Amino acid sequence: MERHLALELVRITEAAALESGRWTGRGDKHSADEAATTAIRSKFDSIAIDGTVVIGEGEMDEAPMLYIGEKVGSGRGPRVDIAVDPLEGTETVANGLSNAISVIAAAPQGKLLHAPDIYMQKLAVGPLLAGQLSLDEPIEITLVKASRILGKPLSDMTVSILDRERHSEMISSLRRAGVRIKLLSHGDVMGAIEAAMDNEVDMYVGSGGAPEGVLAAAALKCLGGEMQGRLLPDGPEDIERCKRMGLLQPEQLLQMEDMVGSGSVLFVATGVTSGDFLSGVRYLAGERAETHSVVMHSSSRTISYLKTLHYFPEQMDIVRAAVI
Ligand code: FBP
Repeated sequence: MERHLALELVRITEAAALESGRWTGRGDKHSADEAATTAIRSKFDSIAIDGTVVIGEGEMDEAPMLYIGEKVGSGRGPRVDIAVDPLEGTETVANGLSNAISVIAAAPQGKLLHAPDIYMQKLAVGPLLAGQLSLDEPIEITLVKASRILGKPLSDMTVSILDRERHSEMISSLRRAGVRIKLLSHGDVMGAIEAAMDNEVDMYVGSGGAPEGVLAAAALKCLGGEMQGRLLPDGPEDIERCKRMGLLQPEQLLQMEDMVGSGSVLFVATGVTSGDFLSGVRYLAGERAETHSVVMHSSSRTISYLKTLHYFPEQMDIVRAAVI
């Protein structure tokens, strides 16, 4: 069932990538996001699941589609929680930068954290560091511990973090510790995943969106890595929102299990613009386009890459009509 569902879900992220990719560099993040959201919503109901969006485009009164609590799927099939970000990196696409993806995670009903759209402090690492570190410890201690476990000096370690004013103190601490730093302009789902991919990045730190934190936790579970988080409510209104979503202690340390449960989880993503890990959509001559996706299953611990060639003659009919 999982394998089948994963392939169905990846068809949806492919559709979102194909639509939003057309907005690359056009300076219009809203249209890029809308294109991805509409593509995903229109495809969801053909899938045989009784799905509920737990992470989506926002709360019911602020998002017309893919809002939290919206039912998706045909209604026949397994009950699943869906976390979806039709376009992770809206500005990235608008500015023609790298690393934008369309992403969905799915888990049995009740397993995914209902995270409000506020910031979350995050620590993401790969399998060698999983279970060894704590978000509660000062970053200096975390780095020294990680360097010992990885068996490499601090100067050979690379830590990624979003390039934001709010991180200036953290970035100074990283510099004082002597690690290499990868500053991300956007896209911390990919930032966290990269820390678990056994490549140049050893750790992802800093704060980013809480919904993105849950999506990243799903991927990290499949990769055998670890993600810890702590919601950062900004005042009483945010605390209320957290409580309404069932988070009675909004500032508690969240472990992987709190975010994605103890059972199986699926994670699929399709590249919209090219990044280190997934290529973006390539629109080819001859009414075709190529997409690159990743499909991860936590139960089988498999990571599959999918390169798909899409033919869309109906699109070309429109182009021809416009040319005539
Ligand atoms: P969007 O796709 O919603 O634009 O989010 C991009 C992103 O970079 C996320 O990956 C990250 O979690 C969040 O924005 C960080 O927010 P901010 O830009 O406010 O620091």
